[in-house]
Amino acid sequence: MEKLIIHGGRRLEGRVKISGAKNAVLPIIAATLLGQDTVSLLDEVPALEDVTTITEVLNRLGVEAAFDAEKHQLRVDARRIGSCEAPYDLVRKMRASFLIMGPLLARCGKAKISLPGGCAIGTRPIDLHLKGFEALGAKIEIGHGFIEASAPEGLKGTRIYLDFPSVGATENILMAASMAEGQTILENPAQEPEIVDLANYLNVMGAKIRGAGTNVIKIDGAPKLVGAAAMTQGDIYVENAISEHLKPVIAKLKEAGVTIEEDVDGIRVRCDKKTKAVDIKTMPYPGFPTDMQAQFMAMLTISEGTGCVTETVFENRFMHVDELKRMGANIRIDGRTSVVEGVDKLTGCQVKATDLRAGAAMVLAGLVAEGETQVGYIHHIDRGYDDLVGKLVGLGADIQRVDR
Ligand code: EPU
Repeated sequence: MEKLIIHGGRRLEGRVKISGAKNAVLPIIAATLLGQDTVSLLDEVPALEDVTTITEVLNRLGVEAAFDAEKHQLRVDARRIGSCEAPYDLVRKMRASFLIMGPLLARCGKAKISLPGGCAIGTRPIDLHLKGFEALGAKIEIGHGFIEASAPEGLKGTRIYLDFPSVGATENILMAASMAEGQTILENPAQEPEIVDLANYLNVMGAKIRGAGTNVIKIDGAPKLVGAAAMTQGDIYVENAISEHLKPVIAKLKEAGVTIEEDVDGIRVRCDKKTKAVDIKTMPYPGFPTDMQAQFMAMLTISEGTGCVTETVFENRFMHVDELKRMGANIRIDGRTSVVEGVDKLTGCQVKATDLRAGAAMVLAGLVAEGETQVGYIHHIDRGYDDLVGKLVGLGADIQRVDR
């Protein structure tokens, strides 16, 4: 089994160029299914396990998709879609496979997708996605572990209000509504940067979407979309980081005593003393992102004072707490809040990546812990971080990947 071995205590310095974001690229890849006349070519696609998985999903639909991880290029020829069915073995591997439902419904008038089932960070229902499809005129049937949606006469634009600004539901509805007849008005959508990226991409494909990134999105359905070429898109300088997307994270880092300088090409992050404890509460964008919660908690474990971490987006996203405690962290869970009392130091030991972001948190903890930390279950990390080890080594970390 592969592991990461980290020797803690090194100060990181230098420049690092970040890769494209997993949660931005996956919906864009799903959207290539809408390309009817021409082939889609995506550049700067991060080399992630999840990208490989969604490419496999496309192939299973009889679409020609090929990912060149070294060149970071993906080519999708979806002019012909052979099947509208996504099986359990793939959907179970990656819940985001469900994002193909909107495009399939729009393109083929039907879709049959295995129910995603539970996952490590919570129950993660899909009711909002389905309500959206139903509002657009699809008929939904659930049975034998599958969801079947059909709209033989096509989808029709309508007004949809989301009870919660779900990222996935917003993306699925945007894709389905892009080819619906007439106008769809989506109220209380997610406003995350990945929603804007997807809308921009769909617009390049010929869709007419306005208001992405705000609390009302208007989509004028187009009869046909086409494939698009090109994808928009210590003391550390994080090249390519967009500070506008990271406002709450930057604000909290500053509150913790970190010096941050933002410029057009990226963000410089510096800190020469112990950080101070801060409280964080996760919220939909533009609130503090749930995908940074675990990593922030790792920082709080060795900060001065006590900080509270409240998770409101997912009900079970504290699995890293027990792992951090094995390294000497002082954390108490009280319902949706973890109370983190800073300790002088963490000590290296064997831990596991319980999910993707938790894995990143364990690596961060290992970088500051005394002695050797071994992080197992790193396939979770591979799902969403392109060459994390290479990037950290470039900054001076003592970290290696071993197979034992
Ligand atoms: N929810 C419902 N009904 C639905 C959909 C969602 O109740 O139909 C609830 C969920 O149970 C959850 C909350 O709404 O409590 C938020 O879920 P959302 O749909 O916004 O999340 P998602 O689309 O399933 C994406 C990312 C996650 C990220 C969240 C929040 C992708 C592929 N995944 O998930 O990424 O945490 O948005 O920003 O885009 C990660 O990268 O580690 C990760 C988990």
